[in-house]
Amino acid sequence: MADHMKFLYAILLFTITESVFSLPMAAPSSDTSGPHFTSIQGPRVVTAGVRTDFTCSADCTPECTYTWRVSGQQVEGKAVTLTLDGHRDSVELECTALNPTSRDSQSARNTVKINNPVMVVPTTSSNPFEGDAFSLACKGSGPGITTLWLKDNELFPTDSRMRFTDNNGTLVFSSLLPSDAGFYTCVVANSTIKVASRGYLLSFRTITVTIEGPDTVVAGVEHNFTCVPNCSLECSISWRFKQFPQGSFKASGTLVRWTPARPGLVQDFTCVAENKLAQRTAQYTKRVLVSGPPPTIPPSPPPKPSASVMERPSFILLTLVCLQLLFALSA
Ligand SMILES: *[C@@H]1O[C@H](CO)[C@@H](O)[C@H](O)[C@H]1NC(C)=O
Ligand SMILES: *[C@@H]1O[C@H](CO)[C@@H](O)[C@H](O)[C@H]1NC(C)=O
Ligand SMILES: *[C@@H]1O[C@H](CO)[C@@H](O)[C@H](O)[C@H]1NC(C)=O
Ligand SMILES: *[C@@H]1O[C@H](CO)[C@@H](O)[C@H](O)[C@H]1NC(C)=O
Repeated sequence: MADHMKFLYAILLFTITESVFSLPMAAPSSDTSGPHFTSIQGPRVVTAGVRTDFTCSADCTPECTYTWRVSGQQVEGKAVTLTLDGHRDSVELECTALNPTSRDSQSARNTVKINNPVMVVPTTSSNPFEGDAFSLACKGSGPGITTLWLKDNELFPTDSRMRFTDNNGTLVFSSLLPSDAGFYTCVVANSTIKVASRGYLLSFRTITVTIEGPDTVVAGVEHNFTCVPNCSLECSISWRFKQFPQGSFKASGTLVRWTPARPGLVQDFTCVAENKLAQRTAQYTKRVLVSGPPPTIPPSPPPKPSASVMERPSFILLTLVCLQLLFALSA
């Protein structure tokens, strides 16, 4: 290699090494940034009792530390594995990314829906009554699965009126007593997973509902309908319609305000009272007839054909007679 070439090569090498070394040297002092774009990765819907992984991430220099908050509990780490119980329909996950240098933080939240295939359902068709037989099934129980029953979240003493069948899959009462009222859940487990069911509220209280309001309404006039629940067992109400009411209509809470538009219609209003935990509903349907408005507008139905046949020729005849009369007079 010629001398001048050696020299150039040395410069080149120096420049490369210099730049290689200088790159990270320039960075650290100024580069503290984030957290930005903090987010949670994981499924939006999980199955109760199944282990599920969630990861938190953020753009952060230097690397952030992460803290999770799940139903009042705090967990450290970028990733968490959660086994969500089936008592609730959903759970709120919160992850906070913290920059260890700047102490800046940012949080992300996700609501995760919990599917619980395990539930307690009554298998007796009628509502529970004192003195009647009644049975509950633990859906999700089966062969090779251990099933435990809880009342108000505790194991409960059984007596001769109670019987467990199908490997504890069913709880049978030969005759209900007031003391049987309570919130029943079952816990199913195999060797790998354990799931608490959605519960059933056994209650002797009642739900009934009626609707107050007129049977006949006038088009163009406002009428009120009120849903009147009589629930000794706590209930929520909702309105349902086979067809949505025409005209001006507003439902809020127990009150419906309706100004029907067209006469001649029949409208059904249904009010449903429900207690989800007791898996009970009651409903009432009111049928309302819309009569015509006060007679200010001329009647819309066409005149009877027999009448029109009679009327029209006579009108034409009359016109002709008049015209002839005019000609006769002017001539
Ligand atoms: C049935 O329930 C009892 C307690 O109520 C429990 O000791 C037993 O292990 C359960 N059996 C099965 C098959 O789940
Ligand atoms: C336990 O139940 C889960 C969910 O049904 C199933 O995926 C798993 O294979 C079961 N384990 C055993 C050992 O049967
Ligand atoms: C319907 O109820 C509302 C609210 O209670 C009331 O202001 C309105 O006057 C009522 N309308 C009729 C026609 O009774
Ligand atoms: C509500 O229901 C209870 C029990 O069925 C009954 O005794 C009571 O008379 C009802 N009240 C009204 C206002 O209908």
